[in-house]
Amino acid sequence: MKSIVIAIDGHSSTGKSTVAKKLASELGYKYVDTGAMYRAVTLFAMRNNWIVDGEVDDSKLIDHLPEIKINFEYNPKAGSNDVLLNGENVEKEIRTMEVSGNVSSVAKIDEVREKLVQIQKELGEEKGIVMDGRDIGSVVFPEAELKIFMTASANIRAQRRYNELKEKGEDINFEEVLKNVQHRDDIDSNRKNSPLIQSEDAIKIDNSNLSQEEQFAKILNLAKEKM
Ligand code: C5P
Repeated sequence: MKSIVIAIDGHSSTGKSTVAKKLASELGYKYVDTGAMYRAVTLFAMRNNWIVDGEVDDSKLIDHLPEIKINFEYNPKAGSNDVLLNGENVEKEIRTMEVSGNVSSVAKIDEVREKLVQIQKELGEEKGIVMDGRDIGSVVFPEAELKIFMTASANIRAQRRYNELKEKGEDINFEEVLKNVQHRDDIDSNRKNSPLIQSEDAIKIDNSNLSQEEQFAKILNLAKEKM
């Protein structure tokens, strides 16, 4: 069997990372959550007060980009990798609504994308990888053997995200989550640099009415056909 690259892109909260993680574990592949990398850079900017009322001080962040080191560390409890920001495990902090509210504004900065895309390309050099994000099939690995584009209705995605955050004990309301999902879709799809688009050779999966097991089985079959 040959080792391949699996790119999973799509809208916010479509369950990309859940299915990508499971797929990587089934195939013995590496899994990389690129959203976590953009979130970690956002957290760095927030901690330095370079984001005020959703407005990012681009030039400050760009000047300090060389100080940001992003790595991953295996978390045996979760069975996946946690993201490290300059050696600190920030997996929990990057998942808050506050970070979600700012991340798309940071992710549209060219220099931020350049830096993270470079790291992502290096991580995939040896193939045998499942990477999820927004531009994996279009920019990071245009030659990926399998490209999936995941989507679902905004309401369903917001409901899933809301349930997830509630379970973690976050104090949020549904409207707020729905707004965030729509806001991120809007910025991600309309930014100049590597907008969220479905590549021509990507297979679209609308999972509004699919269970996690059904999606997983579908993508696993597609992957096996390419291996
Ligand atoms: O995947 P997740 O929802 O955690 O990603 C958070 C945000 O990071 C996205 O809304 C998007 O703005 C940005 N992102 C990106 N390119 C990627 C992955 C994430 O622009 N490859």
